[in-house]
Amino acid sequence: MGKILITGGAGYIASHTNVELIEAGYELVLLDNFCNSSMESVRRVEELTGKKVTFYEADLKDIDALRKVFEAEPEITGVIHFGALKAVGESVEKPLMYYENNITGSLNLYKVMGETGVKQLVFSSSATVYGDPASVPVKEDFPTQATNPYGQTKLMMEQILIDAAKALGWDVTILRYFNPVGAHDSGRIGEDPEYPNNLLPFVSQVAAGIREKVMVFGNDWDTPDGTGVRDYIHVVDLAKAHVKALAKLAEKGGVSIYNIGTGKGYSVLEMIEAFSKVCGHQIPYEFAPRRAGDIATVYGDPALASAELGWSAELGLDEMVASAWKWQSMNPKGYRG
Ligand code: UD1
Repeated sequence: MGKILITGGAGYIASHTNVELIEAGYELVLLDNFCNSSMESVRRVEELTGKKVTFYEADLKDIDALRKVFEAEPEITGVIHFGALKAVGESVEKPLMYYENNITGSLNLYKVMGETGVKQLVFSSSATVYGDPASVPVKEDFPTQATNPYGQTKLMMEQILIDAAKALGWDVTILRYFNPVGAHDSGRIGEDPEYPNNLLPFVSQVAAGIREKVMVFGNDWDTPDGTGVRDYIHVVDLAKAHVKALAKLAEKGGVSIYNIGTGKGYSVLEMIEAFSKVCGHQIPYEFAPRRAGDIATVYGDPALASAELGWSAELGLDEMVASAWKWQSMNPKGYRG
């Protein structure tokens, strides 16, 4: 088993993936610029696994820093590329920052991989690349379409990678995540947003009394209860998909794309009710206008990942919300506490 470079290695999805990879026997080299994360998550991954990881504070936009990492770590055989900005609203306000960070960062990474002969990569993509799909469940061969600069960067990062992989003979797996939620069952690592843009971190903070109420963006969608429906996936299940993807890379070769979701959709109200049950009190909410750019329903078909990677989600809604609540309760100030 080689050494794996994890870009964005201190982030939410990476920290859970790191635990699973270390437990599967991989040695990790983490890279992060801490623009949306902290060293504390790395420390806690070490504490949970009892293993040390190698860490570099570096920015993917700095190609010389990246070259130094690859020079210092000649045993790197593969990369998991998480490192990117991910807030939709911010990307609409600061498109150039998003293009520069996500595209330049990825180009630099792919260039240095080319220079050093590293040929295996798992890419952290998003169901956002399907835009507003014509039908559900979404399959991997559905048309792609970006509805905001963030989504555009994910699509471009995929496309650049596919072209490079074909030209350079790389083995690449693109994982399109649906809505990652929840936390490690230890309660030691979890999502720690500066401001929660996504539903579940917001609900958690309302449950904890940090925020007053949840604003439900629209109750007039064409869905069973009028609120938006999404395919929420437990972050630990998602983390395990990376272990499967890495194991399969060399064996399968070429470029593969997989949906990583449960195949089930839950509405905003169902999420709030499930959370109210685990935290023991009703979470206050109020209906508000639809959020710009939102859509009614998205959930994925995870059959291909099941058939080819041997992966499928094992944890259900109860585990998702219970683990999110445990993380919130044990770390009211996130990693800053
Ligand atoms: C969002 C991004 C998507 C990104 C994904 C990453 C948008 C428009 N889309 O997906 O590109 O890949 O996060 O996780 O931001 N909701 C509320 N109140 C809230 C927050 C959310 O009612 O305070 C509703 C939304 O309208 C939606 C559902 O909850 O129906 C889920 O929202 P969210 O968690 O932000 O995820 P997505 O919008 O699906």
